[in-house]
This record gives sequence, structure tokens and C-alpha cells, in this order.
Amino acid sequence: SKAIQIAIDGPASSGKSTIAKKLAKRLAYVYLDTGAMYRSITLLALEQGIEASDNQALRALAEASEIVFKVNADGQSVWVNGKDVTDEIRTDQVSQAVSAYSAVSDVREVLVEKQRDYTKGGQGIIMDGRDIGTVVLPAAELKIFLTASAEERGQRRFLENQAKGYSEMNLEELIADIKRRDLYDSTREDSPLKPADDAIILDSSDMDLDQVEEAIFAYVNKVL
Ligand code: C5P
Repeated sequence: SKAIQIAIDGPASSGKSTIAKKLAKRLAYVYLDTGAMYRSITLLALEQGIEASDNQALRALAEASEIVFKVNADGQSVWVNGKDVTDEIRTDQVSQAVSAYSAVSDVREVLVEKQRDYTKGGQGIIMDGRDIGTVVLPAAELKIFLTASAEERGQRRFLENQAKGYSEMNLEELIADIKRRDLYDSTREDSPLKPADDAIILDSSDMDLDQVEEAIFAYVNKVL
């Protein structure tokens, strides 16, 4: 069968990365977590005290940053400039700041180019993010827009945080943060979060992970 490009977009904590990872494993495809790239630049900017208004400094920062994904037993780790940042990029502090930094066109231009570089070998690839179907891979053979209610997504993130052993925010704060980030991401000028015209919209509010995986896998099989 042929190798295709699969774009999975959607709002915060809709389960995109969990599903994308599973599908990538099942299809032996490359998986690229583009949110982790925006989170990595945000982490560096916070560490270096670069503000979201400083376009030039952010472009230079993004260009100079080497972001590497390493596949391991429990998925993959994220390394920036030789340092493992897998956990650090998931803190509430980074989650709260990432929308402002990812709205900066200078950052997006640099990261979109790095993302497209992954397709050069022509291998099967799954990318998840906000603008994959609309901007990064407009010719992707399959585009899924995965969504769920903000309450359901907040609940999922709350459980994830608990499992990780820390929770800086309570459930209500998490839901508020998700709503704020969705609004910010979907109303920004450059590459707003929205389904591509040819995307399949999947609302997972009342589905469990296995059901979502099977639903998307069925779409994959139609295209393959
Ligand atoms: O997917 P994740 O929730 O980790 O993404 C974090 C943030 O990065 C999003 O809220 C969004 O602001 C930004 N992002 C983006 N474009 C992408 C992926 C993520 O703007 N393709």
C-alpha cells in the first residue's frame, strides 16, 4: 500500500497526540508532534526572558534551536539543543504562555519549514497540531479535525496531571485555561485553528480512546 500524509488538528487536549502516536505505531509511520515544537520555543523564550512582542529575537531563537524527537519505550522524548525537555514543556506555565508565542508569524515560518522537512523522504507521516491540514500539509490525503467539549477535555487533562503526580491547577482552572487557549488559537491572524475544508470532523466527547482510534483507522483504510 502507498505511504500517505495524515493531518490531525483540533483544540487543546482533544487527544490528538495520543491517537496520532497509536496510529503511527500501527502503520509504522513517522509521528510529528508540532505542538511540542511550539512548546519548546516557548520554554526557551521564558527561560531567556524574551517577550512575545520581540519578533526578531523569537525568529533568531527558533532558527538557532535544534528540536529532536527520540523514540523510546513509552513513546518519544523531546530534546532541545541537547537537553531533554519532555516534561518541562508540559508544565502549566508553558501551556499558559504557548499561545502568545505561537501566534508570532516569525516563529511559525521557521517551525512550519522544519515540519515540512520531515516529509522530504516521502515516508508515511502523521502530524498533529492546529494548522496541519490548512497550512503545513494542505495536500495531506487524510485530514481529521478531532474535537470534544471543553469540560471533557479539562477533565482528561486533570486526570493526566494527577497520573503524573502534579496538578498546579484545579479542574475549573484547567477548563478555563483550555477555553482561553482555544479562543486565542482560533482567533489569531496567522494560521488560526480551524478545520480544513476537506477535513473530517470527529467529536470525541462521548467516545473512548479505542473508539476514536478505530474510527480514524477506518478512514485511513478507505484512503490507503
Ligand atoms: O498541541 P499542543 O496543545 O501541545 O499545542 C500547544 C500550543 O501550540 C497550542 O495551544 C497552539 O497555540 C500552538 N500550536 C500551534 N500550531 C500547531 C501546534 C500547536 O499554534 N501546529
